[in-house]
Amino acid sequence: MASCSEKEQNNDIEQKIQELVGQMTLEEKVGQMTQIKLTYFLNKGKWDEEKFKETIIDKKVGSVLNNDYSAIEMERWHKIINKIQDAATKETRLGIPVLYGIDAIHGTNYTQNATIFPHNIGVAATRNTRIAHQIARITAAETRASGIRWNFDPVLGVAQNPIWPRYEETFGEDPFIVEEMGVAAIGGYEEDGLKSPASVASCIKHYIGYPLSQSGKDRTPAYLPEIFIKEYLEPPFKAAVENGSMTLMVNSASINGVPIHVSKKYLTDILKKKWGYKGLVVTDWKDIIYLYTEHKVARNNKEAVKMAINAGIDMSMVPNDFTFYDDLIQLVREGEVPMSRINNAVTRILRVKFATGLMENPSVEEEAIKNFGKAEYKETALNAAQQSLVLLENINKALPLDKNQKVFITGPAANTLAPLHGSWSYTWQGDKEELYPKHIQTIKEAIEQEIGKENVICPAQNDFNHKDNFSLRGANNASTIILCLGENAYAETPGNIDNLDLSENQVKLAKEASAKGKKVILVLAEGRPRIVNTIVDKMDGILLAMRPGEKGAEAIADVLFGNYNPNGILPFSYPKQSGNIITYYHSCREAKFYDPQWPFGHGLSYTTFKLGNINLNQDTISFTDTLKIAIEVKNTGQRKGQKAIDLFTRDSVASIIPPQKRLRRFTKIELNPGESKKARFFLTSEDLQFHNSSLNNIAEEGEFQVMIENQKQSFYLKK
Ligand code: BGC
Repeated sequence: MASCSEKEQNNDIEQKIQELVGQMTLEEKVGQMTQIKLTYFLNKGKWDEEKFKETIIDKKVGSVLNNDYSAIEMERWHKIINKIQDAATKETRLGIPVLYGIDAIHGTNYTQNATIFPHNIGVAATRNTRIAHQIARITAAETRASGIRWNFDPVLGVAQNPIWPRYEETFGEDPFIVEEMGVAAIGGYEEDGLKSPASVASCIKHYIGYPLSQSGKDRTPAYLPEIFIKEYLEPPFKAAVENGSMTLMVNSASINGVPIHVSKKYLTDILKKKWGYKGLVVTDWKDIIYLYTEHKVARNNKEAVKMAINAGIDMSMVPNDFTFYDDLIQLVREGEVPMSRINNAVTRILRVKFATGLMENPSVEEEAIKNFGKAEYKETALNAAQQSLVLLENINKALPLDKNQKVFITGPAANTLAPLHGSWSYTWQGDKEELYPKHIQTIKEAIEQEIGKENVICPAQNDFNHKDNFSLRGANNASTIILCLGENAYAETPGNIDNLDLSENQVKLAKEASAKGKKVILVLAEGRPRIVNTIVDKMDGILLAMRPGEKGAEAIADVLFGNYNPNGILPFSYPKQSGNIITYYHSCREAKFYDPQWPFGHGLSYTTFKLGNINLNQDTISFTDTLKIAIEVKNTGQRKGQKAIDLFTRDSVASIIPPQKRLRRFTKIELNPGESKKARFFLTSEDLQFHNSSLNNIAEEGEFQVMIENQKQSFYLKK
């Protein structure tokens, strides 16, 4: 809650904003609502001065986004940002600075030498919100050091279908994890207020329902019942709004035939009115244009602009022309878009500019630069990568491997960096091996460092599809084969696939490797769970790496050779068959069909843990009571280890079909061999609520169960 002086300050800023809006012409206002991409006037280092002047001085755009093709040095960013801000503040009538926006999705991926972390899917596997917070903190610092104060992150979509190509950008299938990790990330981005030279404005996206298209293809329609949207999709966004995120990006696709970009219901009625959101709503890439060229809900650009702005869009990521600007000005003149809507949009945009300190000092801040490239960031990246790894199989303690042996390493992810990084890594697609910094290790290099070059045989090349990556030449001279399989990097639509199976040539390689009669360890570097059911039982160990980022290879070597005891657990149900995609929160009737390769929450360790009984302080609670839950966890093995614990509840009987279980809490504890600790949790009736058939969020009297792994305990919720 805001303190008195904070409130006064806010009132003061609100007054300043109103004064400024009062001085603005229609053209200046619509300029603020226009966002143009950097490459409109700067291409591969070459400035088009005429287009620069058109954008910043003549049209006075409110925002510029994106990068000049690939990551550039921080100093180059400074020149770009300062040139834009100089023109905006010194060569326009009102001197309003530009809000520059970027995708720093898993680290400041468009600035050279910044730190790259695991993608969200791996962060979710850590079950450690501190990691989400630290990653966001460092990303904020390095982004702000680059001169940029607005980051289009975090992604708060709940994913269910892994075929969707942006799966790696999500926190997985569970809405509670999405919410907790998302809120932690926002806290990291915006810590100490947006004026802090180590913070950036977060941008929650893509509101709402983006990952759940019917076809699984990027940016295609979703058909979703209201009750499902309210129960599973809205909570992370609502929580993010309550936690102060000041900007929001809209889902490019549609729900029930309505593109979200024209949905007054979602943009104005729910987001702005019901949830009281005061921040700015930006479209996604070209999404007003797509309303008439692709969605076909508008006849032309002008109609599309009118529909979107009247629905509640505040800023258009046009991003490559001034059609939005021209049409919106005309629409206001013709009375088709009310001036009140324009004033409201501009107020929201200026609010972010004031909050981020741009109005006082839009240039790159000396204070911010100091926060770039600190050595400790690499430690966080390593720790995050280590905690994100999920040990899926370990037959007869095949892992960890003995360091005194010869290993044979092969597969397309063995000697490449793109599969360890995925999307938004130095370029949008992340697939340009030659653009990765030389200091980042491939799995082959990290293992060489670990056990010595003389112990590594590896024919694999630095190019995902190179034929040598599918070779077993030399394998006979080693005692263990490490197979590094998965997916090359991709982002968004180019990552669409028609088949979730791991590619045939990789499956063939795995089968041939297993036929060698040696120990075979599979490492999966992939953005989504590719189906591996034909090779699973041929492997002695399987380590899921997803997209672990720049310290990923080191983390993998650490786990394979026992320097690090794995502790990540799955934030999704890893499917066994492409025709059987069922989330863990399925109904009782679906229970017999829930047959994933590995269930939600699965993940092994090199030590063993024993859970005691679940202890409840009461067996009956009222609607206002707090249920106290404790469970003793003991490390019964020989190694120190961290244990991630998921706590679920089940509603035994409800007025609508209750899910088999819902995740309500998670935590992680560290235990020395022989050590026991109690994990404690608190629940109230609010945690037991669900949306009933009248769409009311309620808890119903009756019996519930608390579930942690195979432990269960019942209690009763009584009026
Ligand atoms: C993506 C967004 C991203 C935007 C700006 C779009 O294609 O969907 O997630 O923030 O581009 O780069």
